Amino acid sequence: MPISRRDFSIGAFVGLAAAGSIAGATDTTISRAGRSVDELVGDEDFWRPVQDAFPVDRSYANFNNGSTHPCSAAVIEKICAMYKDINGGKKGPPLQLVEHRKALESVRTQVAEWLGCEQEGLALTPNTTTGLMAAQFGVRLSPGDEILTTNQDYLEMIAAFQQRSQREGVAFRMFDFPTPGPDAQTFIDLCEQQITAKTKVLLLCHVYADTGYVPPVKEVCAMARSKGVITMVDGAHAPGNLDFTVSDLGCDIYASSFHKWTGGPLGSGFLYVKPDLIEQIYPLFPVHPMFGDPGGARKFEKMGTRPLSHIALPPALELHRALGKDLVAARLRYLRDMWARPLSASRLVEFTTNFDKERSSALGSFVVRGRDLTDIKLELQDRFNVIVGYPIGWDWPYGIRVTAGIHTTPEEVAALNDGLRSILSAA
Ligand SMILES: Cc1ncc(COP(=O)(O)O)c(C=O)c1O
Repeated sequence: MPISRRDFSIGAFVGLAAAGSIAGATDTTISRAGRSVDELVGDEDFWRPVQDAFPVDRSYANFNNGSTHPCSAAVIEKICAMYKDINGGKKGPPLQLVEHRKALESVRTQVAEWLGCEQEGLALTPNTTTGLMAAQFGVRLSPGDEILTTNQDYLEMIAAFQQRSQREGVAFRMFDFPTPGPDAQTFIDLCEQQITAKTKVLLLCHVYADTGYVPPVKEVCAMARSKGVITMVDGAHAPGNLDFTVSDLGCDIYASSFHKWTGGPLGSGFLYVKPDLIEQIYPLFPVHPMFGDPGGARKFEKMGTRPLSHIALPPALELHRALGKDLVAARLRYLRDMWARPLSASRLVEFTTNFDKERSSALGSFVVRGRDLTDIKLELQDRFNVIVGYPIGWDWPYGIRVTAGIHTTPEEVAALNDGLRSILSAA
């Protein structure tokens, strides 16, 4: 059943779209004009031009934005121009690439300002994986040292440490924590109990991918620091979802992907390394001394010749700046509650998300007692044109994950609710 596009009023921004020039529109045409989060969070007239900035196929409702979020028309336009430049632009690809490398410095300034961290600690990497793994493999460890993480951390980051452990004889240990995630003090205590004299590195997520649990990262980092443990934060799901700054977290290392909640181009992410640690961490791909020190965390960016997707990131940051981190975070929770509240009425549903305000974010997940979750996912897709995330986890499925984005319309949430109601009533 296709989802009909809502009939919205013609505003200045939509007028640009109708005139065929939406790709040239900057997202700064959206402004809060001094209005508060409470005034705007549910004001659908305000959100229509935001939704319309994303030229997505509305014949299906996408609730898997936590994997990769679509880009706005302004970002897509920049991506196309970027690829055209480096594959045959007027100066020829090599010179265009040099220009893009120079232009990255202005992007770095904008990213540092938006994330709230020192510019010299920022490496613009293609994604969370390349950023975090550079630190995971680059941090100096000796046989007998121990690396600690949880069994709800991302499987590939776990695999990276498992490989390091096999190759170098460093110890690697995971500990469990309950689902839905616990209160702040329980989580801090659990981490503290797990740290031993041998522990040198602690990896945790800022937002757990399967359940949306937000651990008390700032407090855990402070506790770990007091014990001389380096903290690595997998922030894949935080920027563009939570209202925070990286420096406030006080972690040593942080990595994320802009192609998730930020709506940046596919292949844009970052690694942050506290400036006083940069020297101690080897890059995955070393820079020849002949080229000199690239400066700060730039040494982690060397990965051979490739498109520099970050060139197309600024319009995504502009849109987030225009909306404000506080409003984006509130709107995403508002959309989450639009499907989670009605679902909580079902006896068959068990949430794997802790919905406490401090411990949750835009992600929500649930299991349906007595039902195969993959069947439900496929039924939503095939019968209702609704896409949700795959239920995967380390030991067991953490649930069907639902992730709306800032482009999501209330009509799309209604389509999800209709689909779930129909499936659950037949269960
Ligand atoms: C918690 C977490 N970490 C890391 C990643 C990897 O992100 P990317 O593929 O953008 O590197 C993901 C992807 O979904 C994730 O959920």
